[in-house]
Amino acid sequence: MIPINVLIKALGVKVGKSIPIMVSHHLTYRCPFNCEFCYRKEIPSEEMSTIQIKELMKKFSELGTVYWSLNGGEPLIREDIIEIAKFGKNCGFKINLTTSAIDKKKIILLSEILDFSEISLSSTEAIHTKLKGDGSYKKTLESAKLLKEKGVKVAFMTVLTKENIKHLSTLFDKVRELEIGVNFQPLAKYQKHLSNFPADYEPTKEEFVEGIDLIISEKKRNSFIFTSIEYLEMIKKFWPDKKLPMKCWAGKISCNITPDGKIFPCCNYIVSGVNAYLTLNECFKKDFSCLSESLNFCKGCYFNTNVEVNIIMNSVLKSSFRVGKNLIMGKWIWN
Ligand SMILES: C[S@@+](CC[C@H](N)C(=O)[O-])C[C@H]1O[C@@H](n2cnc3c(N)ncnc32)[C@H](O)[C@@H]1O
Ligand code: SF4
Ligand code: SF4
Repeated sequence: MIPINVLIKALGVKVGKSIPIMVSHHLTYRCPFNCEFCYRKEIPSEEMSTIQIKELMKKFSELGTVYWSLNGGEPLIREDIIEIAKFGKNCGFKINLTTSAIDKKKIILLSEILDFSEISLSSTEAIHTKLKGDGSYKKTLESAKLLKEKGVKVAFMTVLTKENIKHLSTLFDKVRELEIGVNFQPLAKYQKHLSNFPADYEPTKEEFVEGIDLIISEKKRNSFIFTSIEYLEMIKKFWPDKKLPMKCWAGKISCNITPDGKIFPCCNYIVSGVNAYLTLNECFKKDFSCLSESLNFCKGCYFNTNVEVNIIMNSVLKSSFRVGKNLIMGKWIWN
């Protein structure tokens, strides 16, 4: 169940407070894989030490954080990932791990700690193997099953590349078989991609619309598509170049932290090189609310988590029934 304190905090944000209820912490930008479309791999950056991360977590728990996402790069690459996850749990956070889930040894240890895990998955074994190597598809699925058996709420994340969109029915069969849901998000393209993005990576608008229609009709048939209809309809209409017509709550209800400890409203700001961040001390001296002052740089995005949260926050009354029902049924919050 959603704790009542989360509801109260979210309503507080709705009436003008800034509380970083959800934190996405990019522990590292290192990653052993090389997904061609990845926007966050190998950005040069210092990394905080274990002690610095613990200090940061303690401070954020004072700011009212509830959900802490261990993200990357590949977060499993950090030697201290178990210690960090445990510490976050002791701070009272619900811990999520966003991962490729290949390191099964660490997954087994983390399964005792995690509340949620979002695991990247391509539509087919062949596409997945091309990104992450031989045996990776099997390992990813085994980790997902293991986490699910241990009671962790697992969701796959599939990026809507041209290739993935072509093979959605294979993916649907797999998630139905495993009884694990899947989230989707469009491919985001940045400056760094322009020179090395394979030309055929992005779907055309027609392919995209066809894919979204397939996802919507599959969602109407079974419950293993976690992405909401509202989100799917929105990206179908506005992707790839129109800003979504709604207020964004990033920087007010959520933030992203870089490996070296800079606090940004969202990951788009980090990868776009906009110098609009706070340090931890500033969050306390000036107040976390000044992070959202930097939002005027925003050119919009289609990122699943941010947009789903925005849909909920912008029509709390309409969404509360959907969110409440999902939570009672043990589903992903924005199903
Ligand atoms: C950057 S990765 C970090 C965590 C972990 N290494 C993983 O792959 O899940 C987080 C998510 O972003 C997705 N992603 C990477 N590049 C993307 C892009 N250009 N557009 C949209 N999503 C992207 C990945 O597929 C993954 O689901
Ligand atoms: S596994 Fe994750 S961080 Fe690594 S390259 Fe792929 S998407 Fe990027
Ligand atoms: S890039 Fe996306 S998440 Fe970030 S502030 Fe803009 S709309 Fe919000």
